[in-house]
This record gives sequence, structure tokens and C-alpha cells, in this order.
Amino acid sequence: MNYSNIDFNNKTILITGGAGFIGSNLAFYFQEYYPNSRIIIFDCFRNEEVFSNGNLKSFGHYRNLIGFKGELICGNINAQSDLKLLNGFKFDYIFHQAAISDTRVNDQEIILQTNVNSFKHLLNIAKENSSVMVYASSAATYGSSISPQKVGSENPENPYGFSKYVMDQIAMNYSKKYPEMTISGLRYFNVFGPREFYKLKTASMVIQLAHQILDGKPPRLFNNSNNIYRDFIYIDDVIQANIKACNPKKNGVFNIGTGKPRSFQDIADILQKELGTNFTTEYFPNPYNGYQVHTQADISSTEKYLEFEAQFSLEKGIKAYIPEILRMHGNDISWLIYKTKLLRF
Ligand SMILES: NC(=O)c1ccc[n+]([C@@H]2O[C@H](COP(=O)([O-])OP(=O)(O)OC[C@H]3O[C@@H](n4cnc5c(N)ncnc54)[C@H](O)[C@@H]3O)[C@@H](O)[C@H]2O)c1
Repeated sequence: MNYSNIDFNNKTILITGGAGFIGSNLAFYFQEYYPNSRIIIFDCFRNEEVFSNGNLKSFGHYRNLIGFKGELICGNINAQSDLKLLNGFKFDYIFHQAAISDTRVNDQEIILQTNVNSFKHLLNIAKENSSVMVYASSAATYGSSISPQKVGSENPENPYGFSKYVMDQIAMNYSKKYPEMTISGLRYFNVFGPREFYKLKTASMVIQLAHQILDGKPPRLFNNSNNIYRDFIYIDDVIQANIKACNPKKNGVFNIGTGKPRSFQDIADILQKELGTNFTTEYFPNPYNGYQVHTQADISSTEKYLEFEAQFSLEKGIKAYIPEILRMHGNDISWLIYKTKLLRF
């Protein structure tokens, strides 16, 4: 799928965070559609260190990259010595995805160091190389601000959201200082799709609920989940956004969602339909205070400046994702049953 007129063949492309969910999908996108592009992944991968919330400090996993034929640099964006490993390249495009992506980490120091300081270094690399810079921001910059969330109504409510908010300020200042540069920030809403499995508990509710159902258990949701809405966006649309963000009509930060909020109950119901189950959903009290109950991307400026339009509804995205959900369930039998079921219809 070509999302723009840009020919990435013979271009040198850096993907930070390329062993993670979105970065690895980007890498495979370029590999498939622009086989003569030179793709360099920079990622620290995972080790066994965990934050106080029990989650891993980074989620990069080699299994996301099986079949990747490009170049790989294992490095930490916080380490100057590792960033030096990027010297000697001349990047045409930088897709900066590396970050502490876990929204529930409370260690402010490490989040700000990782997400903010490193961004300045990468912008400097982009400046020196005359690279296009596309970086990952987040809907978490909005906190509980009123839907539909619009650029300019930020109110981050956790260190992660704050770090992305600061990145956006840095990018805007950089754009002003160096107007010849192309810099696009993408505020992803709730992304789901293949290669998110290794994010474990921080992966989307789509795969988590699907695997509960495949384990033979009813889907478990917070009380009132039919009234808790998110703007769920399928990974292919996030790739579309990254490609279009390489040639924006103007630099800026753009919401990446469908613009159509859907409930967590919708996810459970669509999954049950796709997987052919009929469990009664179980509900339990929401343990989180100040939980955001409605997100919806205002995509007017994304449509205008990136010509972006999501192509996957929640139903279409889940349908496309089912084979991978079954494969990642680690149970080839479920894949076979699914195929048999399809053959019966
Ligand atoms: N997935 C979503 O729904 C979503 C929503 C909003 C924003 N984002 C942002 O999109 C980007 C990609 O997210 P993702 O879902 O692919 O997450 P992910 O955790 O799968 O990917 C992030 C990658 O960055 C790497 N990384 C972390 N710290 C690093 C460090 N110090 N040095 C080098 N590499 C490091 C990790 O190993 C991982 O491979 C992140 O910036 C995230 O904040 C994601």
C-alpha cells in the first residue's frame, strides 16, 4: 500500500523503538513496499528490569523483528555513547518511536530523561542530516480534557502524558527556529494490531480480551464499560499517518484516531462475534481514580494537513487482526478451528 507519492527506495530511514509495536510495523512496511530502502532500527530491547508498577522498563522484543532484513543497532537513547553509533549515517527520514510507552509509570525522572532529553538529541541529528522527523506523541497529552480532544486543549495527567506534551513544545520551537525542517508529531490514540503482544499488560484491550475469550473465560470489563469510550485506531492507519506525516502541508502536531469513539463493551462484543463465542461479560469495579471515560480525536487538522483518513473501523480492524490474535495465543488449534469455522460458512 503506497500512502503517498514519496519513493522511499534508496532512502536511509532510522526507526527508533523499531523492536516495539509501532516501530516494527513501520520497519516491515518499508521492507515490503520499498525493498531498496535502507532501514536502520535503534532500540534497547528488553532486559529483566521492571518499574515499581511491575511492568518491564522497555518492551522491545526480537520476535517482533523475525524476517527483518535491515540493520539493527541495540542502543539506549539515554546514552550518549550509544547515540554515537548513529554517526556516519545520513538519514533521510527519522521515525522516532522509542519511549517509555507505559502510561502508568510514576518515576518522573526516568520518563522525562527517556522521552524528552533523547528527543532533543534526535532533533539535532535530524538537523545535521537534513532528515524529515516524524515522532510519536500521544493522546495522553489531553488527560481528561473534554471530547473531542483538539490540539491546544492539552491537560496531561500523568508523567507520560506530560513528557509527550513537552516533546510537542520542543518540536514546535524547533520548527520555528528551523522552518526549513519537516517535523510532524503524531498524537496516537488507542492503537491496536499485530506486534503489540509483547507489550504484555500494556497491550490494547483488543488482544487482552481476545486471549481471555480464547482461554475459555468470559470477557472481564470495568463496571459501566458500555459508557467508557476510546478512539481505537488500527495499526495500518497509524502506518498511513506516519507516511503522510513525511510530507505535511505544514509542520505541526496531529491527532491520529478515527474520530469515532467506541466503547470497551463494543470490543468484547465484536470479538465474541468474530470468535464465535457467547459468554456473558463479567464486570468489576474500576480501581482507578480520575479514569478518562471518553476520548475522541478531533481529526480536522489531520485531514487538512496530512490528508489522513482512517480506513479501518473497529470492526474491520479486529477482523483483520484475528488471525494474528489466534497465532499469538500460542495455540495453532484455535487457528485451525477458526479456519474450519470459516470454511463451514
Ligand atoms: N500504542 C499506543 O497505543 C500508543 C499511543 C500513544 C502513543 N504511543 C507512542 O508511540 C510510540 C511507540 O509505542 P509502542 O506502542 O510501539 O510501544 P513499545 O513499547 O512497543 O515501543 C517502544 C520501543 O521503544 C524502545 N525503548 C524504550 N526505551 C528505550 C530507550 N531508552 N532506548 C532505546 N529504545 C527504547 C522499547 O524497547 C520499545 O521497543 C511510543 O513513543 C509511545 O509512547 C503509542
